[in-house]
Amino acid sequence: VAIPRASSVVPVVNLRPALAASRPVWQARLNALLERAHFVLGEEVAGFESTFASYLGATHCVGVGSGTSAIEISLRDAGVRGEVLTSALTAPFTAVGILAAGASVRFADVDPETLQMDPDSAGNRLTKRTAAIVPVHLYGQPCAIDRFAALAKQRRLKMIQDACQAHGARFAGKPLTAFSDYVCYSFYPTKNLGCLGDGGVIVTNRATIDRRLRQWRDGGRKNGQVSLVPGVNSRLDEIQACFLRVFLNHLTEWNRQRAEIAALYDEALAGCSAIHPVRRDADSVHHLYVIRVPRRERLQRYLTGLGIGTGIHYSAPLHLHPAFAAAKQKKGDLPHAEKACREILSLPIWPGLAHSEVLRVAEAIRRFYA
Ligand SMILES: Cc1ncc(COP(=O)(O)O)c(C=O)c1O
Repeated sequence: VAIPRASSVVPVVNLRPALAASRPVWQARLNALLERAHFVLGEEVAGFESTFASYLGATHCVGVGSGTSAIEISLRDAGVRGEVLTSALTAPFTAVGILAAGASVRFADVDPETLQMDPDSAGNRLTKRTAAIVPVHLYGQPCAIDRFAALAKQRRLKMIQDACQAHGARFAGKPLTAFSDYVCYSFYPTKNLGCLGDGGVIVTNRATIDRRLRQWRDGGRKNGQVSLVPGVNSRLDEIQACFLRVFLNHLTEWNRQRAEIAALYDEALAGCSAIHPVRRDADSVHHLYVIRVPRRERLQRYLTGLGIGTGIHYSAPLHLHPAFAAAKQKKGDLPHAEKACREILSLPIWPGLAHSEVLRVAEAIRRFYA
């Protein structure tokens, strides 16, 4: 297929409309913060923590430096040392957080339709050393967390949820904290709720865990300069909390817009037999819109030529990353994740993306396969 020239540009993600819409509000908050000149663990972080906890239907929320840190600190707090099982199809940072906690990592395959970690594959890959599981709610779609909770209970495993791509998602109407004591979020700028740098939180319903997490993130200190536990330095900062407090007021509307865009793609691509959308359900908060396609690299180049940005989440399953070779899982071991990594393509989705642009993207894909 000849590569046509771009008429206008549709980036895979664009933060400008969201930033512009709320500018006067965050600017006022930043100005007040600069007057107070208190930049670490002050009233902005505390205010955000309590509003985000209630938004999610939870009781406690502890701000940390990133989603990766949230996973690391949760595992440390849960006392996990041995082996931790997670999905082969996720951001490498899920596994980076596990290694940072001093644990080793091992991977389970995904369900071929949803690309979420498969509870049967997870069950089959538990070993005597497995101490915890980290199910991931990938692309904004909650995974089968009820089944993972049952598996964790039956095999006496700790469970830490990676909800770094699922801000606001519930499972069958229930808050994610109903299924485990630790739910981790990232506020990397492109997330459904992002800040303007790095940030994250751990959400829990347990007051004792909340108290300990506050100590972990702050060098193991409680109120003074004595480190009581060997903690880390990973604190959400006041400037990021200013943005997060403002953006949180928009999250419901932004997630609604994402759902609309996803539904529009579903409809516009329905007649194109070459492509296979990754299955979602009504619980999804549509962080990414992912399709599976033949000749992906050719399609991606074709779309780039039209000014349409795309992404690949992710190009290699984690068991094949050199950094995680200690898991000793080789090519062929997790076939569904491996195949998906060759076929998946993420299409533009962001609050403010015009419906006409969504239709233009879908039309370009249909034309490529026609
Ligand atoms: C599924 C998943 N887990 C973990 C992370 C790590 O979050 P952060 O980038 O805030 O460390 C991310 C984001 O990059 C993610 O998408």
